[in-house]
Amino acid sequence: MLTSCAVAPAEETLLEPAAKLAQHLELPIVDPEMNDTDYLLLLTSERLELHKSGEQSTPLFVDFSRFVFRQGKEPIAKAVGLKGKYKPHVLDCTAGLGQDAFVLASQGCRVTMLERSKLIHALLADGLQRAKKDKRLAEVTGRLELIQANAADYLDTLTRVPDVIYLDPMYPETGKSAAKRKSMRFFRDLVGDDLDAETLLTETLALKVKRVVVKRPVKAPPLGGQKAQGSLLGKTTRFDIYA
Ligand SMILES: C[S@@+](CC[C@H](N)C(=O)[O-])C[C@H]1O[C@@H](n2cnc3c(N)ncnc32)[C@H](O)[C@@H]1O
Repeated sequence: MLTSCAVAPAEETLLEPAAKLAQHLELPIVDPEMNDTDYLLLLTSERLELHKSGEQSTPLFVDFSRFVFRQGKEPIAKAVGLKGKYKPHVLDCTAGLGQDAFVLASQGCRVTMLERSKLIHALLADGLQRAKKDKRLAEVTGRLELIQANAADYLDTLTRVPDVIYLDPMYPETGKSAAKRKSMRFFRDLVGDDLDAETLLTETLALKVKRVVVKRPVKAPPLGGQKAQGSLLGKTTRFDIYA
C-alpha cells in the first residue's frame, strides 16, 4: 500500500466488527477523532466508508440502490456480445467498485468479479451485501459473485472457462488524464497503477474464451500495443474487443 490507512468504528458498539475488519485488512484500528493516517475506513451502523483525511467531500462507499436502470443496451453490454437470449457469463478480472459488473448484471449477464485489493474488496463486499437485502435489486445481485483474488492466480485454477473476460485496469496517470473521479484518485493512492495489466491481457488471450474486452480511455493506445479485432467507442471510454 502506497498510503497510510486505518480502520475505525463510528460508534463504540461497532468496535468488535471494526477490529475484525482491521485484522483482516492488516491495518491498525484507531479512534476516528485521533486518526492521523491519510485514509480512514469508517465502519458505521449503515455501511463501510472510505474517508480521505482533510477532505470534506462525501466519503467513498458502494451504493447500488442509486443505480439507474436504462432501457436500451449499454455499450459495455454490446462489447461483451450480449444479444437476444445470449447472455454471456463474464469474468470481471478488475472489479473495483463493481460499477461495470453491475451494469452487465442489470442487462442479464452472470458476472464473477475478482478484486485483488483487500481494501477495495471490503468496500465492494459491503455494498453488495446491502444490495442483496434490497428486494428491488435481488434479480441483479443474484447474478453477481465476488471473489477476493488476484486474477492471474485465479486464472491458473479455472476449471470452467467463462464466455467473456473483462478487464478495466487502472490507466497510468499522465498530467492531462489526471483522474477526476474521486474513486480513481483514491484507488491511485491506495492500490497504485495496475502495472501488470499487459501480462494479464496476454494470459487471458491464451485461454481462448469467446471474447476478451478491455476498457480504455478513448484516446489511449491499445493495452500492451495488442491490436484488437474491434472497438466500441463512447464519449470518454473505448471497449477493445479481442475475439
Ligand atoms: C479501474 S478499477 C476497475 C473499476 C471497475 N471496472 C468499476 O466499474 O468499478 C481497477 C481495479 O482492478 C483491480 N485489479 C487490477 N488488476 C487486478 C488483478 N490482476 N486481479 C484482481 N484485481 C485487479 C484493482 O485493484 C482495482 O480495484
